[in-house]
Amino acid sequence: MPGPDGTGLPGRLVVEDWDALTFRVNRVAYRSEEIFQAERDRIWARSWLYLGHETEVAEPNDFKTRTLGGRPLIFCRDSGGEIRAWLNSCPHRGTILCREREGSSKLFQCFYHAWTFRNSGDVAAIPGKDAYEAAGPEFLDSMRLRAVPRLETHEGFVFVSFNPDVPPLPEYLGDAADYMTMISEQHEAGMEVLPGTQLYGVRGNWKLGVENAMDGYHFAPTHNTFVGYLRETGFAVTDDDQYAYNLGNGHSLLVLTGHGGRISMVWEPRFGEDEKRRTEAHRAEMDRRLGPERARYVADESHILFVWPNLLLFDLEGLSIRQLEPVAADHTEVRAWQLAPRGEDADTRALRMKTMVSFVGPGGLATPDDIEAYEAVQRGIEATAADTRAGMDYSDMSRGMIDEVKGVQGRSIDEGAMRGFWRHWVDALGVEDGLVVSGNRPERFLEGRNVR
Ligand code: FES
Ligand SMILES: [Fe+2]
Repeated sequence: MPGPDGTGLPGRLVVEDWDALTFRVNRVAYRSEEIFQAERDRIWARSWLYLGHETEVAEPNDFKTRTLGGRPLIFCRDSGGEIRAWLNSCPHRGTILCREREGSSKLFQCFYHAWTFRNSGDVAAIPGKDAYEAAGPEFLDSMRLRAVPRLETHEGFVFVSFNPDVPPLPEYLGDAADYMTMISEQHEAGMEVLPGTQLYGVRGNWKLGVENAMDGYHFAPTHNTFVGYLRETGFAVTDDDQYAYNLGNGHSLLVLTGHGGRISMVWEPRFGEDEKRRTEAHRAEMDRRLGPERARYVADESHILFVWPNLLLFDLEGLSIRQLEPVAADHTEVRAWQLAPRGEDADTRALRMKTMVSFVGPGGLATPDDIEAYEAVQRGIEATAADTRAGMDYSDMSRGMIDEVKGVQGRSIDEGAMRGFWRHWVDALGVEDGLVVSGNRPERFLEGRNVR
């Protein structure tokens, strides 16, 4: 049924009731192609989007091609060393200009009519250029590569926006920025993305990927094999001291302690005795460089940070960057990269690689479980599609509302981070009557958290 604001989208997408302590999400949000299109227009075309890390294009002329919000892009460092994001579309008649996934090149040549462009955007050559000569130099100028309207970087993380009027990146990132800074502070020499991309498709809506990452509740039941393995290695898995925060602007954070070791920062027996010595030396260096209090936040806590709408940073045993690219309402492309300290000791690097692929990698002990969960939701919600009985076609995310009423900090095993995400989603879509609130919402939601 069309919403009252003429958007054609349904109302009552999110219904929260503070008398009944329930929070429900209309399942149409996961399956509707109209909503998917509205998201493209109102979220992906308007927001900042994570493009990549500057170390992925470390040298002049390095490039990667990448699609964001359905738009093909060239992410490169030009011959002068400047980071660029070009629309991967030939200014002549729109053909995909660069068809390689990555490489190094000063020039991009379109295969259709062989127009050639420098990686700084200038036209380098046009076959049979004489035919345009009368049009003057403005003609060549108008045929330069088209840049994404906005590009800004925070601590090596490169963001772009198709919206020229988007607020400056620091303002947009808000409290999320410091968690990215903490990542860059983990090592004296800084961090770099390791070569190789983990790329996989999921038959599920992108928002299920965000929910899954912000959902500590599923950890023990869904990942019981992994939890069993951790127990066997003598590591006690606990949900105590694990908290969830909404950081504003749709960003959210889980802070996990007692979750597992952190390579080169928090040692545990499965890392081996040699790594213990290296960890102690590195921790002493961190204390000197950052001061003990900051070092404690940077080193001892694991974080899962979601930066609205397409970036997930898993700062756990190792550091994994995950980017979500919605392809259709029921299909998401996921790309992941590993971020590691520059110039790291070879044994530590080897341990890091092994540990990272064993849990968060697509063939690890956890990620296949998560993908199965989020594809199973997408299949399962078909059961209630178009069911007109009240409340039938809704999913429940009420866990922990009672703690919000009491003013107790929400835990990672509650669903408060998801509630914040969904409220922001309705707001970004701008559907009047999309969010229906009844009863008194407590004033103090999960608060932002700044350790500076
Ligand atoms: S479309 Fe690229 S050269 Fe014609
Ligand atoms: Fe999981």
